[in-house]
Amino acid sequence: EQIEKGGYEHFMLKEIYEQPSVIKDTYRGRLLANKGIIQMAGIEDNLEKFLNAERIIIVACGTSWHAGLVAEYIFEEFARIPVEVEYASEFRYRNPIINPKDVVIAISQSGETADTLAAIKLAKERGAFVFGVCNVVGSSISRETHAGAYTHAGPEIGVASTKAFTTQITILTLISLRLAKAKGTLSNSDFHRYLQELEVIPEKVAEALATNDIAKTIASIYKDAPNCLYLGRGYNFPVALEGALKLKEISYIHAEGYPAAEMKHGPIALIDEKMPVIVIAPKQGHYDKVVSNIQEIKSRSGKIIAVVTKGDTQVRELADHVIEIPDTAEALTPLLTTIPLQLLSYHIAVMRGCNVDQPRNLAKSVTVE
Ligand code: G6P
Repeated sequence: EQIEKGGYEHFMLKEIYEQPSVIKDTYRGRLLANKGIIQMAGIEDNLEKFLNAERIIIVACGTSWHAGLVAEYIFEEFARIPVEVEYASEFRYRNPIINPKDVVIAISQSGETADTLAAIKLAKERGAFVFGVCNVVGSSISRETHAGAYTHAGPEIGVASTKAFTTQITILTLISLRLAKAKGTLSNSDFHRYLQELEVIPEKVAEALATNDIAKTIASIYKDAPNCLYLGRGYNFPVALEGALKLKEISYIHAEGYPAAEMKHGPIALIDEKMPVIVIAPKQGHYDKVVSNIQEIKSRSGKIIAVVTKGDTQVRELADHVIEIPDTAEALTPLLTTIPLQLLSYHIAVMRGCNVDQPRNLAKSVTVE
């Protein structure tokens, strides 16, 4: 096992650090940035289905559902296709309306999640085309779907999903860019800009990993907090949910993720000097709005930990701690903002003496309802 951990103390940490290389594995052979080409067999063979789709329904559970939420923003922005993101467990028992022109995308790291599998079967029965995004090759979901694309993240052992999440976002971004190109919903220059940005994202993820020391320091200050609030807007709202989930899963600290603007409809009541609030505030994407949210937290004496773009000055003045990530296109920020949140949860869990790789009550693959 020590050898499998490759010198890291836990599988989770190893998997966090693998992200620059596995993101590259995800787009290898699929993203040819200099030629302006994105190609994936599963998409090319079924391009008409996607282009005729009146709606995309994403079904997933857990972290994969969060990747689906990020994809909702990306698909709607790039390819202008309406997207609904569903918990597989809710979808399957709701008598959902599914039309033959719907494309269902099922996202699953393991490819074995019982609820996701059942949702796929239901969608197929009702005539939808079902596309799988799985990590485990040959898994039940990869076999049950009409077509699909693997994330190629390699085995993920830590129960808390890390590299599966970022590679899912990567492949879903590639798919939406491919569709945008076919539909002409992105300008040529934007399309090429995103391709170039994706190509350099592994290096930026590696840079984001350099936040490890600061994440560790922040962890040592807040490791005993009973509650934590995570806030983000737009593309980074799902990242807030995922950040909170990571903390809950491995450190057993109660954490909630919220869209920053919804804070005033409830969570703001929780804020006092004992409440750490992690705010995802990259320079693009409603930055000014997030800054006002931060001011609201500050005026209630909340402790602010902000994830910001390198060189940020405005948030730095307000926040108790800042964690800097490199600049990138707004739609790709989740790939970077996620990294310090994974590290923060990891260090808090280690400092609390938790079993990071196998947290209590949780399973890597949930094959029962
Ligand atoms: C379990 C795992 C999570 C995972 C979820 C969905 O709860 O502990 O890490 O996100 O299942 O799993 P899947 O394999 O379908 O992505």
